[in-house]
Amino acid sequence: MPDDLDDTDIINRHLAVNFLGPLRVTEAFVPALTRSKGAIINNLSLSALVPVASTPAYSISKAATHNLMQAFRALLSARDVAVHSCFTGPVNTDMTRGFEVPKSPPGLVAAGIFDGFERGEDDIFPDAYSERIADGWRTGVIKALQQEFAAYVPPAAEVAQDCCHH
Ligand SMILES: NC(=O)c1ccc[n+]([C@@H]2O[C@H](COP(=O)([O-])OP(=O)(O)OC[C@H]3O[C@@H](n4cnc5c(N)ncnc54)[C@H](OP(=O)(O)O)[C@@H]3O)[C@@H](O)[C@H]2O)c1
Repeated sequence: MPDDLDDTDIINRHLAVNFLGPLRVTEAFVPALTRSKGAIINNLSLSALVPVASTPAYSISKAATHNLMQAFRALLSARDVAVHSCFTGPVNTDMTRGFEVPKSPPGLVAAGIFDGFERGEDDIFPDAYSERIADGWRTGVIKALQQEFAAYVPPAAEVAQDCCHH
């Protein structure tokens, strides 16, 4: 078994950086984003959708943030703040050193993220590896359910009070 799952501290540290970090940063920026009708782009990972079993704590933290960003997307749409999630495949950075799989160059992935943003895609698959599942994801049952659940957002006034506390 990977050490991750035996050691609560490893899970907590992944959640602190990858989940609580984006949560707190998003909350802090909501007032400014509301004024500017801005956008949030979160670099998640394909492991937000399916865990990489050798690094379960990382995958859990990305899955949690994927779920969180869907909530923010629904809550903030009344304020015209867009929320974009990137389901990025393996990228050639320090993080993946020693992980022997084909990796995309960081510059190409960054360009892919901005291309997806300019096309207005909620869910961005910014590299050749992730792009293979983009069409299936966008027409799939999970995406349809996401859109169905967005109807359960409380009225705008309640959102302003309950979401983000600003
Ligand atoms: N590489 C991939 O294959 C891949 C795939 C999908 C998604 N992503 C995502 O892309 C993002 C960037 O990753 P990367 O591949 O560019 O990794 P990276 O080269 O290892 O860079 C990680 C960055 O996160 C910062 N960081 C690490 N721990 C932190 C902490 N506790 N508090 C604040 N900052 C911290 C590091 O800061 P310092 O430089 O100061 O250490 C560094 O700037 C991550 O969210 C990652 O999950 C990466």
